[in-house]
Amino acid sequence: MTTDAGRRPFIAGNWKMNLDHLQGIALVQKLAWTLKDAGFDRGSVEIAVFPPFTDIRSVQTLIDADDHALAYGAQDLSPHDSGAYTGDVSGQFLAALGCTYVLIGHSERRTGHGETDEVVNAKVLAAVRHGLVPVICVGETEAELEEHGTSAVPVAQTRAALAGVAPGTPVVIAYEPVWAIGTGKVATPETAQQVGAAIRGAVQEVLGADDAAATRILYGGSVKSGNIAGFMRQPDVDGALVGGASLDPAEFAGIARFPQHLGV
Ligand code: PGA
Repeated sequence: MTTDAGRRPFIAGNWKMNLDHLQGIALVQKLAWTLKDAGFDRGSVEIAVFPPFTDIRSVQTLIDADDHALAYGAQDLSPHDSGAYTGDVSGQFLAALGCTYVLIGHSERRTGHGETDEVVNAKVLAAVRHGLVPVICVGETEAELEEHGTSAVPVAQTRAALAGVAPGTPVVIAYEPVWAIGTGKVATPETAQQVGAAIRGAVQEVLGADDAAATRILYGGSVKSGNIAGFMRQPDVDGALVGGASLDPAEFAGIARFPQHLGV
């Protein structure tokens, strides 16, 4: 299926620092079986998992061997391509492991690792250099929401992240209000729509109308199988970035099967 605007819905699972490679294999197997048992149509919704770096090779091997309908990516990458950057991981290495995507600028990296808009932009450009699709996370804290209103911070972060990106480059933007991440507090579908539309406007300013129309914009923050349908009904929400609920294969599969909740 596609959304009314022709974009393929995208459900992404951010495992954060959970699951070692053996646990990761078990989760991917359970997720694949659950989707298969439920008669999931692999063309309908794109599903991706974002395991820790140390799991990626195992996840790749399993997905390739069993031809599972799952994409995968990393949770971060270095802004540099190679060299004396102890502990960092190059986009080149991720591409060599078959990653399609890489998360960039998650709020836990912005706050816990001091990632500024400049760092996020450098990482986006690094991802693009290596043929990875950046999943750029933007979102405001509760204090920023009070000070600047609903869309200002995510729009400014989107503009900054996309500086120097050439039109025609595929990107995904995830709107994740910081106050909704892991808290059980969820934005309303109407707010997600309002911010999604504003982000699409920012993508249009930087990359042009064609790219804005093609770019998938996700909502993230306490998404569950019970609330996904409300978000997916919004014209400017094309999917979800899921944290906690992506660690439960049945729950994550329930989110990915949202077309059934929508009755489509
Ligand atoms: P959550 O996390 O679904 O646990 O709120 C979302 C995220 O951080 O990507």
